[in-house]
Amino acid sequence: MSTSLTIRRPDDWHLHLRDGAMLKAVLPETARHFARAIIMPNLVPPVVRGSDAAAYRDRILAALPDGMAFEPLMTLYLTEDTDPEDVAAAHASGLVKAVKLYPAGATTNSASGVKDFDRIAPVLEKMAEIGLPLCTHGEVTAAEIDIFDREAVFIDRVLDPVRRAHPGLKVVMEHITTSQAADYVRSVDRGLGATITTHHLVINRNHILVGGIRPHYYCLPVAKREEHRLALRAAATSGDARFFLGTDSAPHPDHLKEHPCGCAGCFTATNTMSVLAEVFEQEGALDRLEAFVSLNGPGFYGLPVNEDTITLTRGDAVTYPAKIEAGGETVTVFDPGYPLHWRVDA
Ligand code: NCD
Ligand code: ZN
Ligand code: ZN
Repeated sequence: MSTSLTIRRPDDWHLHLRDGAMLKAVLPETARHFARAIIMPNLVPPVVRGSDAAAYRDRILAALPDGMAFEPLMTLYLTEDTDPEDVAAAHASGLVKAVKLYPAGATTNSASGVKDFDRIAPVLEKMAEIGLPLCTHGEVTAAEIDIFDREAVFIDRVLDPVRRAHPGLKVVMEHITTSQAADYVRSVDRGLGATITTHHLVINRNHILVGGIRPHYYCLPVAKREEHRLALRAAATSGDARFFLGTDSAPHPDHLKEHPCGCAGCFTATNTMSVLAEVFEQEGALDRLEAFVSLNGPGFYGLPVNEDTITLTRGDAVTYPAKIEAGGETVTVFDPGYPLHWRVDA
């Protein structure tokens, strides 16, 4: 068994940094190991225009501790009123690397998202023309659709029709949670990729509900049956270039997670690389970890891979904080439920 693994420095292709004190608290947790991340725009109010993204990027860079390097890859929050020319300008300047589609009401801070998909056709047309990827929160919101089916139904009702209407559009299905999503991505040769989170490789829906309700495992899309977790592990560890890491690390203060109407999101930035090394080791796929975390994402986005490296070393169980502090509140770090043995030297 290998005890040391050096890989190109990873990137995170789906990350929530929030703002203010929370941003200051969580940014080092990612920047410690990751060179770049696609920054989700679901602030309140959302990051809609290029000027919003520029200001948010400046706040992120200002929050970065001295001596740490990190490149935020900015995104815009797609609304029914998004101006295609503003999107094109933000892309042309190099500021924005993707546009994010939230179906209205699908997840945290998605109230300004899209209800009528016909209204975003002109923006999607422009994005296809200029080669700017669309990142999707892939769940329908129709009340009659069971929450465990919302991702699979999204593929049929929204994603496939949108892709057919805009054949040149590059699309990332974010945080996939089902075998249907993995199969759909594999059925398309070009222009479709998927991010997979750390936590969806570890937990299934029993982790949330058996023996008491565990709010820190509640995220959206919600974790599904075991067969889906296994399908995600197969996809992530396959080396297939269409699948790459997007942690969806999504911090919420503990009092809003442990609440009668608890927020969705798992905070995984702190221990993601140790968890992933453990998962890939369990699958006998340590030689494919670098593809998943460091190569496939830049390949899809057309960006260079990172030149420097990190080293993972196997040894005694590693320790990491159970919680981090953010502006007088605490955020619970994802607990995989088993010891982690891979230390990260970045
Ligand atoms: C995310 C958040 O908290 O912003 N929550 C989550 O459960 N994944 C939103 C999202 O990515 O859908
Ligand atoms: Zn989402
Ligand atoms: Zn997210």
